[in-house]
Amino acid sequence: MIRNEEIEKIIDEDQQGSALALEKNDSNSRKLYIESYGCQMNFSDSEIVASILAKEGFNTTQDLAEADLVLVNTCSIREKAEQTVRKRLEKFNAVKRTNPGMKVGVLGCMAERLKSKFLEEEKIVDMVVGPDAYKDLPNLIQEIDEGRNAVNVILSKDETYGDVAPVRLNSNGVTAFVSITRGCDNMCTFCVVPFTRGRERSRDPQSILEEVNDLWERGFKEITLLGQNVDSYLWYGGGLKKDYEKASEMQKATSVNFAKLLEMVALAQPKLRIRFSTSNPQDMTLDVIEAMAKYKNICKYIHLPVQSGSDRVLKAMNRLHTRAEYFELIDNIKGIIPDCAISQDMIAGFPTETEEDHQDTLSLMEYVKYDFGFMFAYSERPGTLAARKLEDDIPEATKKRRLQEIIAIQQKHSLYRTEQHVGKVEEVLIEGASKKSDAHWMGRNSQNTVVVFPKENYKVGEFVNVKINDCTSATLLGEAVGMSENN
Ligand code: SAH
Ligand code: F3S
Repeated sequence: MIRNEEIEKIIDEDQQGSALALEKNDSNSRKLYIESYGCQMNFSDSEIVASILAKEGFNTTQDLAEADLVLVNTCSIREKAEQTVRKRLEKFNAVKRTNPGMKVGVLGCMAERLKSKFLEEEKIVDMVVGPDAYKDLPNLIQEIDEGRNAVNVILSKDETYGDVAPVRLNSNGVTAFVSITRGCDNMCTFCVVPFTRGRERSRDPQSILEEVNDLWERGFKEITLLGQNVDSYLWYGGGLKKDYEKASEMQKATSVNFAKLLEMVALAQPKLRIRFSTSNPQDMTLDVIEAMAKYKNICKYIHLPVQSGSDRVLKAMNRLHTRAEYFELIDNIKGIIPDCAISQDMIAGFPTETEEDHQDTLSLMEYVKYDFGFMFAYSERPGTLAARKLEDDIPEATKKRRLQEIIAIQQKHSLYRTEQHVGKVEEVLIEGASKKSDAHWMGRNSQNTVVVFPKENYKVGEFVNVKINDCTSATLLGEAVGMSENN
């Protein structure tokens, strides 16, 4: 997998520190080191895990050497992600030699995919816990304390952790994730997520609103509603997607879909910035775009992965929309919200992809001119439909070359998009110091583009109007011209 680092930086700038810690509770005596890989959901889940373990006497630490318990929240999405975790386990093994009492647990998608096989493959692992089993951690930890290995990888049809108040790990105190759905029922043929995260279920909107209100009261200024497929959010008194048809007429009439949820959250805290991720084009409806246009606290940015521009490949991927329908959606978004930013995920070299299919991807990109993108070479995942039915037949060199072509176009478009901001005054929420200069703040505009400007007397968490003077393909550079009225 090759990713364009510059593009990656834009979205990932605040996600790279993966060892997380929070304030200490003095009555806690054991030390937890927790590291997260992969999607935002994993980072959010680690906050749920830390919250559950805080009640079990664990304070988090960022110093691996002093840890009593090391947890690694893993990602299976591509082979490379799994290799990264295996390398980390080697490192933990080295540390264990000087700290023999240290226990190691694997959480997340790799835990779910490999189950107890993990214990055989990686001798250092004491505990394997799938993404729906975190509430069982107290029991599992007791097992390993008593010298036994522990495994729980049972997937759930109703677990949403709606009743666990996540602790905010390594937080900037300004932005936070709020998960709204878990699992995915879409079954894209390349994707391991439906197998590792189970059936799609939505969380009770009341518990979402409580979490959002609590975040606001604690000073947070921006939240991101998280799900594998947020537009498919649906609460009808229950949240299991596949059982919606069985709901009563009354339940259906009073159900809450994603557009309604967005509206509820936007109205609950009119000054809180709201983002969401990820949208699947096949599930995104006009009412979501209209809600975005109606409430100014909903940010003008949609992550709208398409994966390929070829109808034939989209079909083979089981993406349930065509190229023409995707263009129609893009036209609707730009028609209703002209300055809405849009980002993509693309896969180069899906099985059977021809040069012509690849050209379709490039021409789709030329049409949309995405603001950002996450681009990957196809990586066959065991157990997926593509792995079972299709030969991984595109040579590695061809995948890489196509990927490079996709990245090159994205870089051109990223620059084209950032240039459109130059000369404008835009509202920026300050998240922290710029990584490159202590004299500058880093924040984002509504479109999720990183903006860097001199600190002056402004503070973290303030909304500031910034005049954009210059840009790279990844970053806007500017100077503050005053506080925003949103403070
Ligand atoms: N709906 C999810 C998608 C998760 S996977 C979300 O919330 O983001 C993120 C991206 O990884 C996908 O959009 C896809 O572009 C990429 N991906 C998934 N499986 C892949 C595979 N087998 N090989 C290469 N890239 C893959
Ligand atoms: Fe994966 Fe497709 Fe769901 S990419 S997470 S199966 S929408």
